[in-house]
Amino acid sequence: MQIAIFGTGYVGLVLAATMSDVGQDVTCVDVDVEKIAGLKRGEVPIYEPGLEALVRDNQAAGRLTFTTDPAVGVASASIIFIAVGTPPEEDGSADLRHVLSVGEMVGTLMQEPKIIINKSTVPVGTADRVKATVTARLAERGLTGLEFDVVSNPEFLKEGAAVADCMKPDRIILGVETAGGRSEQLLRELYGPFNRNHDKILVMDVRSAELTKYAANCMLAAKISFMNEMAHLADKIGADIEKVRLGIGSDPRIGYHFIYPGVGYGGSCFPKDVRALISTAREHGIDPMVMEAVNNRNNHQKTLLFDKIRARFGSDLRGRTFALWGLSFKPNTDDIREAPSRTLMEALWAAGAHVRAYDPKAMKACQEAYGDRPDLFLAQSQEQALEGADALVLVTEWKSFRSPDMAEIAAKLKQPVIFDGRNIFDPAMAAGYGLEIVGIGRSSRMQPETL
Ligand code: UDX
Repeated sequence: MQIAIFGTGYVGLVLAATMSDVGQDVTCVDVDVEKIAGLKRGEVPIYEPGLEALVRDNQAAGRLTFTTDPAVGVASASIIFIAVGTPPEEDGSADLRHVLSVGEMVGTLMQEPKIIINKSTVPVGTADRVKATVTARLAERGLTGLEFDVVSNPEFLKEGAAVADCMKPDRIILGVETAGGRSEQLLRELYGPFNRNHDKILVMDVRSAELTKYAANCMLAAKISFMNEMAHLADKIGADIEKVRLGIGSDPRIGYHFIYPGVGYGGSCFPKDVRALISTAREHGIDPMVMEAVNNRNNHQKTLLFDKIRARFGSDLRGRTFALWGLSFKPNTDDIREAPSRTLMEALWAAGAHVRAYDPKAMKACQEAYGDRPDLFLAQSQEQALEGADALVLVTEWKSFRSPDMAEIAAKLKQPVIFDGRNIFDPAMAAGYGLEIVGIGRSSRMQPETL
């Protein structure tokens, strides 16, 4: 099949790579001239395991092409994916400018029937707006009879596992105008290679599909925020949240997934989507009490490690240096959007401290975000970050941080304390090296904290 994908971010590029890999002819369209030029040279602008090889191989095989010209994309394909960004507006609602501009382009350029598929995370009702946009452009051109469908097909990939998620999806949601119609049939065919063993396709109406995406992300964010609140309580009352996590996760109704307490969720999806759904609820006259609480807890959680550092070192951190392990919002990505590491670094700097940061993949992103500043040292290795530091703060649970040389850490730090924002270290084991672990919700091993 011939498909065009507008937008070469995480969603668009991974979709393009995986679709071309199973033999589809894919044209990627993006307005970013430099990005497209780079992609043509095989340069993938994001770090995502397995993606670079897929882009290179399928480009070499001629199945994957890149262009800045929307006319080429629209002419080449009967199936057009919208995978452009939906950045937040000031009030938290999603900015649909890019999504609707693809609708404008398709309506202006299409000459034969098309299926337009929305992959971007968009508020309920966006498919209708895309439909109206295309219809208006066709009417202007006197082509009111030209057929097209708008389908909602939200993406559920996780950064760091995006290629694998796309190739082995849990479910494929198709929000269609007519169940059993031509769009559904074509999409079933298109997703055939990823829909083996058992049928993962769920067909529903367009609005339900649009809401499914937000509901999934907000439910997951709610699980995390709930656990973060329990961890806070555990700190106060002298319980160990890690024991509680296992205790509740063993109930299949709760499950073990997404109940890891930590420094708060970040990334391009959860924070933005929770705020966007709050905004949608308000627009419809509903008080989004649960989602407000999820959002508030997360904002608070991002400041928690700093509070713990202050409780230990005092409010004036001038002359102090902290080693920081992990900048990306989670492992296996170089993405630092809404990362808890940023909230922490900014608070440390504001209190006069210096930061020696290390991340396996996000050093460049950090340099781009903060540039050269005297209170930030970008270390070449996790060991180098420790040199001259008062304490170590772990923010992201990259594999390489999981079993470090504790003796070396104890020798390098001025004070034998690790603030473990992800509860990856065993406090008893660390104690054997004379190191104290200050975790999230683990005060049962020590005196209840004052926080
Ligand atoms: C998420 C959804 O999982 C995915 O389905 C959707 O398409 C996009 O949003 P992503 O943002 O890539 O994916 O990351 P995810 O692995 O879900 O983690 C999100 C954040 O939650 C991270 O900051 C992570 O550290 C945090 N998290 C996750 C926790 O704090 N505790 C947990 O138990 C799980």
